[in-house]
Amino acid sequence: MLPLQQQSRILANDRLTADVFRLTIHAPEIAAAASPGQFVMVQVSSSLDPLLRRPFSIHSRSADGSLSLLFKVIGKGTALLAQAKPGDEIDLLGPLGKGFDLTAAEKPVCLIGGGMGIAPLLFLAQELPGKKYALLGARNRDELAPLAKLFADIGCAVQLATDDGSLGHHGFIPDLLDAVLPDVGQVCTCGPKPMIRSVASKCRHAGTPCQVSVETHMACGMGACLGCVLPGADGRQVHVCTDGPVFNAEELAWQL
Ligand SMILES: Cc1cc2nc3c(=O)[nH]c(=O)nc-3n(C[C@H](O)[C@H](O)[C@H](O)COP(=O)(O)OP(=O)(O)OC[C@H]3O[C@@H](n4cnc5c(N)ncnc54)[C@H](O)[C@@H]3O)c2cc1C
Ligand code: FES
Repeated sequence: MLPLQQQSRILANDRLTADVFRLTIHAPEIAAAASPGQFVMVQVSSSLDPLLRRPFSIHSRSADGSLSLLFKVIGKGTALLAQAKPGDEIDLLGPLGKGFDLTAAEKPVCLIGGGMGIAPLLFLAQELPGKKYALLGARNRDELAPLAKLFADIGCAVQLATDDGSLGHHGFIPDLLDAVLPDVGQVCTCGPKPMIRSVASKCRHAGTPCQVSVETHMACGMGACLGCVLPGADGRQVHVCTDGPVFNAEELAWQL
């Protein structure tokens, strides 16, 4: 299906921490067409600076035709997005990419997210039937607590880890996976590269299928610029924007 380009009204831009925001946008056609793990390319400015759209995972979808994005301010584009106000219009292109395979698993699914990698997993948790674990990690309590509640509210068995020990396990989120792995039939993960590498390695040893959502720099988001390529396990290059961003872990060369 071709992506849609839609001038969309911002409904809310909630500041969750000093540098993390949740943007809620009325975009009924894109929201209806989206599946978990897909992303949108956002025109962050009405001027030509910055020229390139920025990619963001779809964080959640609501029955009222809205979708939300969860983003951290790291540069010019996200700083502009942080200033967006309810009532402003924003240009979205999407949904783009290949999302998570939602084929029903007989055993529970374990969602593992670190930092902004938590963003696409809420939409996945919304759509996945059956029992779900959510192992979520972030720098500290302020960043993690509001997100953890959203997963708990939709029935996930939530376990948490923070870098500073202010909430949940003091350490890294893959530390929590060993105890859960025997009970799960599928793992879906998104986050910093060392985290997804560690999760993929544990799954490989346990023989548990693992889907990973990866991030790269993206200029076009549609397979035209080669800006997003990564080495695949078979030696060929994969386009993260069109072959992914979600891959079976075994499809990628793990020097990622
Ligand atoms: C498929 C996909 C989904 C994404 N989903 C989310 C999301 O849900 N929430 C979120 O906060 N962010 C997400 N990102 C990352 C987001 O696109 C970048 O943070 C954003 O484009 C930065 O724009 P900027 O103009 O603020 O920063 P820039 O000024 O463009 O960059 C600031 C610094 O960050 C580095 N950088 C920028 N983008 C990336 C990247 N993709 N990987 C590694 N380094 C980068 C730059 O090299 C530079 O050093 C996603 C990226 C992809 C590819
Ligand atoms: S971002 Fe242009 S080819 Fe993937």
